[in-house]
Amino acid sequence: MARITASVYTSHVPAIGAAIDLGKTQEPYWQPVFKGYEFSKQWLKDNKPDVIFLVYNDHATAFSLEMIPTFAIGTAAEFTPADEGWGPRPVPKVIGHPELASHIAQSVIQQDFDLTIVNKMDVDHGLTVPLSLMCGQPPKTNFAWPCPVIPFAVNVVQYPVPSGKRCFELGKAIRKAVESFDQDLKVQIWGTGGMSHQLQGPRAGLINKEFDNAFLDKLIADPAAAAAIPHIDYVREAGSEGIELVMWLIARGAMSDVAGGAAPKVAHRFYHVPASNTAVGHLILENK
Ligand code: DHB
Ligand code: FE
Repeated sequence: MARITASVYTSHVPAIGAAIDLGKTQEPYWQPVFKGYEFSKQWLKDNKPDVIFLVYNDHATAFSLEMIPTFAIGTAAEFTPADEGWGPRPVPKVIGHPELASHIAQSVIQQDFDLTIVNKMDVDHGLTVPLSLMCGQPPKTNFAWPCPVIPFAVNVVQYPVPSGKRCFELGKAIRKAVESFDQDLKVQIWGTGGMSHQLQGPRAGLINKEFDNAFLDKLIADPAAAAAIPHIDYVREAGSEGIELVMWLIARGAMSDVAGGAAPKVAHRFYHVPASNTAVGHLILENK
């Protein structure tokens, strides 16, 4: 049986990807950001999963206003990195896990969540920056991510976007789906994006440390309460892009305590402002 061993939460910022790719991680501006991920890189090596189920949002790379799936699961064998702004990042292509992804699609759709099945898609910084933060720069001699990744794209860009509650419920369905896959696989689920940020308008650059840290506290200790936060609170308190935090609730909903198991262990917690326009938040929760 496959099982969810841990969940990882991290912000994504395209400038973080550029800092890694351009060798700027030790510059004074960036050094404190990357320091927060030193533990995580070692942790990922020590706790290497067989598959990462990576919840992220696309930024008009694979989708656009022409087509807006609320929840899209990548079932392809591989996904090519692409990006806006700085251009495609020089990172490995993403190897998928078509068998597990198709199984999850089957199970989750049968549990009444209508996923869009995507057999071909490029992935942008929303997916590659979290991988870079957690894995570091793969060596030239073995230019690959440490394991297969199932991309799971959530629309948090164009309203209407899914509620935190819906995302939390979806996480529960994903856990059931994983646990009904009959291969012995260790699966990590990652929730990415956030924390507070607003990229446009008079409030551009908004950061709300109190909201972000209260969200981290709630996500750890009372995820159902975090799931009850309405959209308007994210937007008002954490800025228009703060709504990306609903994606963290998918990962949290997949943890065992939500289904009656033991509370997860907080392996790591980190918070830093700013990175570009964004607050960087990061958590690692282990299932006991
Ligand atoms: C920034 C953050 C994002 O999440 C994004 O998609 C684009 C830009 C920023 O902080 O600059
Ligand atoms: Fe973003």
